[in-house]
Amino acid sequence: MDRERLGRLALEARKNAYAPYSHFAVGAALLTKNGKVYTGCNIENAAFSPTSCGERTAFFKAVSEGEREFLAIAIAGGPAGAPVKRACPPCGVCRQVMAEFCDPETFEILLATENGVEEAYLLKELLPRGFRKSRLEE
Ligand code: THU
Repeated sequence: MDRERLGRLALEARKNAYAPYSHFAVGAALLTKNGKVYTGCNIENAAFSPTSCGERTAFFKAVSEGEREFLAIAIAGGPAGAPVKRACPPCGVCRQVMAEFCDPETFEILLATENGVEEAYLLKELLPRGFRKSRLEE
């Protein structure tokens, strides 16, 4: 699975976004160590706080299917009904969910637009000195 293909899967997943309040549609494609891809989109709610981001939808789908090891996630977000023109970085809550399951040194976060993957980061770059489960075990 190359980066560009993962980015296109995020754009495809974005088509299912349920975003009647923000009109901001996000898609994500999460790659497991075994090469499987779980996609997700944002799912909003009239009460607002129950909203799930596209990234967390993908993670929770994967983890609920028994997956625990991940290599990369591609994210595509932007105003609904228009092509994705700008890279959309993940929110802080989604970064924290990534930190629960992913190696900060190797997990890749790919920001896709209609032109392809435009930015790539390691988790450690987007969540430096994060709170991790190892802290609870000391
Ligand atoms: N959103 C995501 O899906 N991922 C992010 O990382 C940032 C924000 C969604 C949440 C909400 O449905 C909409 O984008 C506007 O914030």
